Order: sequence, then C-alpha cells, then structure tokens
Amino acid sequence: MPPGFQQLGGERITGTLALSVFTAVLGSLQFGYNIGVINAPQKIIENEYNSTWIQRYSNPIPESTLTSLWSLSVAIFSIGGMLSSFCVGIISEWLGRRKAMLINNLLAFIGGGLMALSKISKSFEMMILGRFTIGAYCGLASGLVPMYVGEISPTSLRGALGTLHQLAIVTGILIAQILGLETLLGSEELWPVLLGITVIPTVLQMALLPFCPESPRFLYIVRCQEHHAKSGLRRLTGRLEVSDDLAEMKEEKRRMDMERKVSIVELFRSPLYRQPIIISILLQLSQQLSGINAIFYYSTSIFQKAGVESPVYATIGAGVVNCAFTVVSLFLVERMGRRTLHMLGLAGMCVCAVVMTIALSLLESVPWMSYISMLSIFGFVAFFEVGPGPIPWFFVAELFSQGPRPAAMAVAGCSNWTANFIIGMGFQYVANLCGPYVFLIFAALLLFFLLFTFLRVPETRGKTFDQISAAFNRHPESMLDMDLNMELVKPSTELEYLGADNSEQ
Ligand SMILES: *[C@@H]1O[C@H](CO)[C@@H](O)[C@H](O)[C@H]1NC(C)=O
Repeated sequence: MPPGFQQLGGERITGTLALSVFTAVLGSLQFGYNIGVINAPQKIIENEYNSTWIQRYSNPIPESTLTSLWSLSVAIFSIGGMLSSFCVGIISEWLGRRKAMLINNLLAFIGGGLMALSKISKSFEMMILGRFTIGAYCGLASGLVPMYVGEISPTSLRGALGTLHQLAIVTGILIAQILGLETLLGSEELWPVLLGITVIPTVLQMALLPFCPESPRFLYIVRCQEHHAKSGLRRLTGRLEVSDDLAEMKEEKRRMDMERKVSIVELFRSPLYRQPIIISILLQLSQQLSGINAIFYYSTSIFQKAGVESPVYATIGAGVVNCAFTVVSLFLVERMGRRTLHMLGLAGMCVCAVVMTIALSLLESVPWMSYISMLSIFGFVAFFEVGPGPIPWFFVAELFSQGPRPAAMAVAGCSNWTANFIIGMGFQYVANLCGPYVFLIFAALLLFFLLFTFLRVPETRGKTFDQISAAFNRHPESMLDMDLNMELVKPSTELEYLGADNSEQ
C-alpha cells in the first residue's frame, strides 16, 4: 500500500491551488455580474432606446416594440449561453482547460466593449449583440470553471472548492445590485460604465492565468504528458512525492483506455452513462425550475407590498442572504454530503414556496402577512444556496470519469441554460395567469426533484472520480443498491476499493 493513500483525507490548500481556483472563479464572478446587472438600469436603458428611436425615425418608439427590444436584450444572454455551453466539451479538449479560459476572455472583452459603447454609438443593436457575446462567454465559463476546479482539487476538498463557483456567481450578482444603485453607476450617464466594468475581472484573469498550472488530470489522462502532469501536481499539492495521485489518475486512464471516446449521443445510448446523465440533467433542472430566478424577478414588487421604503435595498438584502448561505454550504458540503444538502435545500424551498403562496393570498385581509411573505422569500433564497444553487454545477463533474466528462458538462450546461431561458421568457406570462399561485407550481416541481434526489442520486463525498464512475458501472440498473453499497465504503478506506478492483483483473 503506498503510504500516500492515508493522506488523501487531509490535504492542505497550497498557494498555487488557491491562486488557480481564485483565477478560475473570476469567470463565475462575471457570470453572476451579468445576470444581476441588467435589472436595475432597465428604465434608463429603455429611455435610451426610445431616444435613439426618436432620433432615427423622428417619432417615439411604440410600447410593444420597446418591450420586445428589452426582452430580447435580456433573454439573448441565455441564448448565447445555451449555444456556447454546448461547445464546452470540444473547446476544453482541443485547447485544454486553461487556454480555453484564456481565449474565452476575448468574448468577454468584445461583449463588454459592445455594451459599453452602445450609448455613444446610439445603437441598441450593439447592446443586444453585446449581451449575446457576454452570454456566450458565461456559457463557456459555466462549464470550464467547474471542470477545471474539480480536476485540480484534491478529493477531500473538491466539494468545498466546487462551491466557490457558486459563491463567485452570487457575489457577482450582489456587486451588480450594489453598483446598479442610482447613486453609484445606475444613472443615466454612467450605465455604460456599469455594463462595461465586466472587463476588469477579464483583464485580471488574463493576467493571472499564465501563473496557474493546466489541469494535471487533463495533461495526463487526455494528453498523456506524464512529466507535465507531475510538475503540475507538485505545484498544486506542495508535495514532491505525487506518485499516489498519479496512481489514481493512472487507474482512471486505464479504465478510460478501455472505453471508446464518448460523444454526446453515446452518453444517452450507453447503459453505463444513461443513469448519471439523467441525474445530471435533472439536477440542473432542479436548480433552474426551483423558481429562484422568478423570485428575484418578483421580489421587488413583493417588498413593495410589504411596505418596505426602498424595495431596492430589500433586494440587496436578498443578495446578501444569497451570499451568506453559499458560504454556509461551503462549510457543510464536505461534512454532510452533497445528497443530504441538496435534499435539505429542496425541502426548505418547497416549504417556503407554500408559506409564501398562503401569505400572498391572505395579504388583502391580513396586513402583517406581507412580513411573512418577505421572510419566506429570504428563506427560499437561503435554502437555494444551501443545496440546489451550488451543488449541481460540480456534481456533474463528479459523476463522470475523464472520458465522458466534457460531453456530460456540455449536456448539463445546455439543459441549465435552456431552463434558464424558459423561466426568463415564460414566467411573466404564467404569473399573469395564476397570480400568487404560480409558486405552487414551483412547490410541486420542488417536491418532484426532492423525491428524485432521494431515490436516484448517490452520495459522492470523499470518493475519487474513478470510484464514483466505477460504482455506476458495477450496478448500471439499480442506483439505490449502488448507493447503499457505496455508503459501506468509507471515504478513508481507499484500500478496500483497491482490493475490490484488483479482484476484477
Ligand atoms: C418615448 O419618448 C417620448 C418623448 O420623450 C415620450 O413621449 C414617450 O412616452 C416615450 N415612450 C416610451 C414607450 O417610453
């Protein structure tokens, strides 16, 4: 038994690992920023569109045209993300994870530039094109960042470091909400700065990426560059002796060499991958169809009803809750496990959604219900960040071994962005139809995802990538059996797993 196997549980965070994770999640920060940035200056930018229209056609913009132009400016972001997230697999294999992130910054540069210059150029086309480009950037980042962070993290820290992707997203949203205040950058003169400021983290990431090592997993398993992988591992772990980490990758590579290259179609065809890909898609859907974006959409008007003086600050309050509970998740995810936290989050959100519906429908007759509805919104956001917010992102990277991972990330990312787009476009119509009862639909969906997680989703905490995919292969038909079997294999007893594996040969 190599002595290193005993140390797997107690990895420390080296400077290089910290720098690499920080640099990578600068991409997630921009993702969040561009989600949040578009809400505050809506009225001002609409006026800008109007005055551009007047200048060009010498009469005011028709109300319906303005609404379409604005919806397009908002939603085309998700279309850009949808399209580019599909290319994550190809690009990350072709350029490598690090160079892919580096090149991706060009999109952020172009997107940010187009949006910032759209006011001077008097062109809403530039604004819409800029939103599309920055959406494409975010789509790639939403796949590349969790992949890179998952691959460079030691097993015992993978969940905690994976959560940083979501923490950076919600921090980005919060920064956007604060900078979007009219007294800061959300004013008539300064909104181009608000939209263009996204290039600052871009520049920072481009400056720092050359100092980060490429994912050793990618170098060794995909590129077969053992020497480079080794030196990367040494920098990331801070240890000279990395043969145990390499042995784990060797094992994964051995398995991968037996598999053929996995395309997206094969993910669904092969019985080996069908279960994990269905789990990945449903987890992504559970994040988007939980109604979290709808809440952020609705919160300001609910806060208004609750008699809050400035609903903008209540929305910022929700942003703070958002950040705080992502940190909570960060500390819990390696202790309680992904499955438990995800179920806790879904259950909590479901209860909050029901309470909110009741509170909203009683609002007319019982005035203090407005405070209950406000509290339930905060609760809803908090529970979201405990599980369904951070976990689906890195869970996909965990469910698959090196071979099918890029294809799986592409499928998962694409389903996330599609659901995001559907909610963004459709929520307003459904809300008009159902009034406050719209959240009962989300409660029902949450209940479904809770049951699904309970019945089908395995725990991955403390297991190597290879163990996780091996467990699927051993029991492709019965996930529940697998889960029980895996619980018996305690995270620290790597030996037991190796023994089981040797007997196969
Ligand atoms: C556009 O601007 C004109 C002139 O300022 C104004 O009368 C009109 O209401 C505006 N239209 C919209 C849809 O805001």
